[in-house]
Amino acid sequence: MTMIEIIEKKKLNQPLSKPEIEYFVQGAATGSIPDYQLAALLMAIRLNGMNREETAMLTLAMTASGDVADLSSIDGIPTDKHSTGGVGDTTTLVLVPLVAACGVPVAKMSGRGLGHTGGTLDKLESIKDFSINISEDAFIHQVRTIGCAVIGQSGNLVPADKALYALRDVTSTVDSMPLIASSIVSKKLASGAKAIVLDVKTGAGALMQTTEESIELAQTMVHIGHDAGRKMIALVTDMGEPLGSHVGNALEVKEAIDVLSGRVTGPLLTLSLELGARMLLLSGAAGDIEEAKAKLQNALQSGAGLATLKKMITAQGGDPSCCDDTSLLPQAKVVKDVPALQSGYVHHMDTIALGNTTQAMGAGRKQKTDIIDHSVGFVLHHRIGDSVTKGAPIATAYAKDEQSANDAIAEIQEAIAISDEKVAPCKLIHAIVDDQQVIRM
Ligand code: URA
Ligand code: CA
Repeated sequence: MTMIEIIEKKKLNQPLSKPEIEYFVQGAATGSIPDYQLAALLMAIRLNGMNREETAMLTLAMTASGDVADLSSIDGIPTDKHSTGGVGDTTTLVLVPLVAACGVPVAKMSGRGLGHTGGTLDKLESIKDFSINISEDAFIHQVRTIGCAVIGQSGNLVPADKALYALRDVTSTVDSMPLIASSIVSKKLASGAKAIVLDVKTGAGALMQTTEESIELAQTMVHIGHDAGRKMIALVTDMGEPLGSHVGNALEVKEAIDVLSGRVTGPLLTLSLELGARMLLLSGAAGDIEEAKAKLQNALQSGAGLATLKKMITAQGGDPSCCDDTSLLPQAKVVKDVPALQSGYVHHMDTIALGNTTQAMGAGRKQKTDIIDHSVGFVLHHRIGDSVTKGAPIATAYAKDEQSANDAIAEIQEAIAISDEKVAPCKLIHAIVDDQQVIRM
């Protein structure tokens, strides 16, 4: 078997065999196959696709390319949640402590910001001294004792994905259904959780922009997970506008704490409860969705969720006092309102542009070595469908200096379209996908 033969086959739109898939995945992981041959194969896969069986074989080969976490010493069913990437999407920080407070162990490996999207690890690092690098033993011990942990992926988790993802990023082959599904699911399988809830974003700010493509991605991932013996369910949810009102690392931590303190409701809480309730269902901690939501509401109202977040922060070396006083989180030097340029209704948001604005303000990295400014970002005061008045603030920018604040103001004004025509608010959940069926909402 040679790499040229494998590329040739996929070029001619023929399905690859298990040995062929394992050959190139191993070669990607060890570096024995040159980038130009991997890149050619990735483009052939992007153009000709893979069938369900090939995609499953690819995922399993990628999972096996590195370490696989063993969570069997954790009592109960270790549960995880994964989002395909959003803007202002802080559900992890809200639902992990709530679900853990309901007695379900949450062993979560998260990622950093990618492109225009934020990353949970970057958000958590806005908490003073919080560490996302803990050993597998300490990770398991923490889940056993306080019920949850959120850490970075170990260095050798799915090395094939590290190599392939880096190539996809620079060869216009990210937007491929089998490549996205195998990339995400291989990491979830390797991180060891037995029950996994996927949040597949759809719309302007998502990887897959149409509802039908997003449903197909969700089905592909759920089928692979199911075939691999995991319980998996996916919600297809809206990214036509940022989920929460706060976008930026410390700002999103603040919003999560406000939600867990019971001070704030809205789409971030609603979606956190929907996703969290499925985690309770999959792990057997609730018999139906209503019971699951009631348990989570209880954990919210009793303060048990916030108390669990404090315990998790303390266990990971951080200072939990920000949970009682969010002004202890990093604060931006310059705070300026973003006035609406006209009166009317918020009609559309360019979610990708809004995500990119936060990144440009310093909340994300342009290069791997860049240091993040945790304090910067913005808070939106309106959602799609709201009426706004010329000159009144539609958002507030939190910036490192005047210049950056002024740039952000112009970009936010450009990204939020206001028109005379009234539009309906966005639907939050578009579909629920399990291995049996697709329920369109
Ligand atoms: N997130 C991933 O981890 N992989 C992809 O391919 C896309 C999003
Ligand atoms: Ca990712």
